[in-house]
Amino acid sequence: MRIDIITVLPEMVCPTLEGSIIGRARQRGLLELHVHNLRDYSTDKWRRVDDYPFGGEAGMVLKIEPIERAINALKAQRDYDEVIYTSPDGETFNQGMANEMSLHENLIILCGHYKGIDYRVREHLITREISIGDYVLTGGELAAAVMTDAIVRLIPGVIGDAESALSDTFQDNLLAPPVYTRPADYNGWRVPEVLLSGHEANIHKWRMEQALERTKRLRPDLLEH
Ligand code: ADE
Repeated sequence: MRIDIITVLPEMVCPTLEGSIIGRARQRGLLELHVHNLRDYSTDKWRRVDDYPFGGEAGMVLKIEPIERAINALKAQRDYDEVIYTSPDGETFNQGMANEMSLHENLIILCGHYKGIDYRVREHLITREISIGDYVLTGGELAAAVMTDAIVRLIPGVIGDAESALSDTFQDNLLAPPVYTRPADYNGWRVPEVLLSGHEANIHKWRMEQALERTKRLRPDLLEH
């Protein structure tokens, strides 16, 4: 899979996606990640990419030209499944969307910034607008990194134990059951007996019951789907 992130703050995206599992996926060629500085596509001699809004509102707005130039340069080289724009007013990102996007070949993620981007970009160049939650960040860079992390860990081979992604919280709209490790008894805090029994069917049943009970108690909204 290939992900191209377009941003005015590459330094805010790069370090987050270099470490640990995502960094290893890149080294192993399971993910090709390219972070592009939008300023590289400005024709302005000061490399400006924003301007004052028409109508006199406060704040600056990202201009169409450098964004279109960046997107077109990428599209000239390959087809993209989606051109995503990160924005607090987009549809809310969830595990289902991460699953769906992990099946794509090529994605562009354009990071929003300041007061926003010229709305014509959203109308004509963007195929999907995504928010990572009902709160406002200083820009879309962290949202792009969060989405990339959630998507890439689902690519086959990225997580060592294939089972572990399937049993995640939110897969099947259920919260994950509790997990424990040694010691079985920590100063009287005991691990549930069934997990020590070696009885696979009972363990499986217990896990399902726990997942259901935790979901009912903590996230009943997930069971409505
Ligand atoms: N940019 C600013 N806030 C955001 C959010 N919550 N999700 C995605 N992009 C954003």
